Amino acid sequence: MPRLPESFLQELRYRCDIESIVSSYVQLKRRGRTLLGLCPFHSEKTPSFNVYPETQSYYCFGCGAGGDVITFVRQMENLGYVDAVKFLAQRVGMQMPEEGLEDPAGQLRQVILEINRASARYFHHLLVSPQGRPGLEYLTGRGLTVKTIKHFGLGYAGGEWDGLARHLKSLGYTESQMLAASVVAPRKNGGVYDLFRERAMFPIIDLRGNVIGFGGRTMGERGPKYLNSPDTAVFKKSRNLFALNFAKAAKEDKLILAEGYMDVIALHQAGFENAVATLGTSLTSEQSRLISQYASQVILSYDSDEAGQKATRRAIGLFDQVGLKVRVLQMTGAKDPDEYIKKFGAGRFKLLLDGADNAVEFELEKLRRKYDLETADGKVSFLKEAASLLAGIQSPVEREVYLGRVAQEMEIDKQALALQAEAVLKRKGAAQRKKEQSDLKNFMQLRPGEPQGMPRRGEQLTAAIAEERLIGLIYKNPDYAAGVQQRISPEDFTDEGCRRLYELLCQRLQAGDSLEVTALGQQLEEQDFSRLAGIIAASSGVHYTKQEAEDYIAVILRASKIKTKEQLAGLPQEELRQYIQSLADRKK
Ligand code: UTP
Ligand code: MN
Repeated sequence: MPRLPESFLQELRYRCDIESIVSSYVQLKRRGRTLLGLCPFHSEKTPSFNVYPETQSYYCFGCGAGGDVITFVRQMENLGYVDAVKFLAQRVGMQMPEEGLEDPAGQLRQVILEINRASARYFHHLLVSPQGRPGLEYLTGRGLTVKTIKHFGLGYAGGEWDGLARHLKSLGYTESQMLAASVVAPRKNGGVYDLFRERAMFPIIDLRGNVIGFGGRTMGERGPKYLNSPDTAVFKKSRNLFALNFAKAAKEDKLILAEGYMDVIALHQAGFENAVATLGTSLTSEQSRLISQYASQVILSYDSDEAGQKATRRAIGLFDQVGLKVRVLQMTGAKDPDEYIKKFGAGRFKLLLDGADNAVEFELEKLRRKYDLETADGKVSFLKEAASLLAGIQSPVEREVYLGRVAQEMEIDKQALALQAEAVLKRKGAAQRKKEQSDLKNFMQLRPGEPQGMPRRGEQLTAAIAEERLIGLIYKNPDYAAGVQQRISPEDFTDEGCRRLYELLCQRLQAGDSLEVTALGQQLEEQDFSRLAGIIAASSGVHYTKQEAEDYIAVILRASKIKTKEQLAGLPQEELRQYIQSLADRKK
């Protein structure tokens, strides 16, 4: 089967949002970050069909069907792979690419990444060299420690017109490659000049540890305050976040979203390593989806000025759409987190964080506008929704305060409103417990994608689970993959399906390719792909640590030493003896 270019598939995936496509076949209800409905592929009365907008995948815990938007259409419409792609392309008005065309952008992307890395090194070396004095003074003058500067790989772009261009040339890169990376701009009369000059440099690093672009802050008055790399073949501002590569490893299920590079760096330095920022643009729906992949709550920490507040309202709307909880930080006495921490210290910021306003007021205002409060009907509807909103407030004291406020405003008895909120709370609690129980049961009974009726025993099963987890971990934290690959090779996997998945993920990461499901679907048999969808489903909301990677590796390696009967039969005498010895050693 000729492969479709990945750039095409990526675009298709962005335009054919899985939620909207599946919704036209299945009635979906939002439940936090996932959507739930009755599975269209087997008959059931209670829903176990899950759609994960964050990874653009689906999985049914009842029958094990799973995949991406293309698989879904294939199964629904009974189409082959290419026809399903055509079906979707037509739906969103995209032209199918010429058949059999390779992805020519792939190689260029590799080169651009190399150039970016070399540029980041150059800027960083310059910063710590005598020439970089102004840059270093600027950054330390803003309170950054040497450790922080190193951690973020900050740098300095000097005043020369072509310092970087000459350096890259000496490394063998051509001007057209440098232009593609957008680290230089064309001169009118031929040749190129450095895009960033006399600036403090902030490299932007993606989830795999690739340098994908730069932000550069002027240290004087010249030019715009921040200059950002334009979008390139490896950099889409709207689909990335600054410092997510670090923040995703923070154990918390919350992310702090700030406005600027310096805010994020100051936050990390002060110990809030779950802070991220957009890249010189306002928040996009792609970014809100990305955030939902790593957290279930966002703490908005935008500037306290008018523009910042406007952006806050906009962001709340976007996070609502992906089911993320939002809290808003109200900073008084400082313009942004960087300034706040400098003025009042990290401890006080922590207090602010803990008490962050949970956007209740904002939500209430939305409801007030939604209903006509002059009519009795409108009032009733408003109160119903308000009760449910207030029931969601964690702190009892705070809940009490808002209950009182709303009751007074609507001129009703506070007790009545409180009762209504309580009823909502009970219903939610019961539903939640039931769901957790059934999820757990499903998870324990049916390992995602595992063929039913094929009992596996002891160590083998444990290994298969560890293998799946390891795959889930790599999927979510591609930057751990390099370390994992050094320790464990596909041959160590006991489960055939997991071995193929692991092999593919490693291959793609080494080639610098994306791990998006739509891209993977093309390279996997249906059975393996639904297995992967199951693994992704099981990893939803899970935060993996490097330690867990170690644990899984240990389990897998232990099991890989255990051979099947057939393998044993084929072993030479000496190896067989060693093997038996090793078993005996292990029993001790
Ligand atoms: P701010 O103007 O609030 O700056 O821009 P800041 O973050 O407080 O920066 P410092 O503390 O003065 O260094 C917030 C963000 O908006 C983008 C940048 O991403 C910046 O971090 N921005 C701002 C630009 O892209 N270009 C600009 O000229 C200014
Ligand atoms: Mn600032």
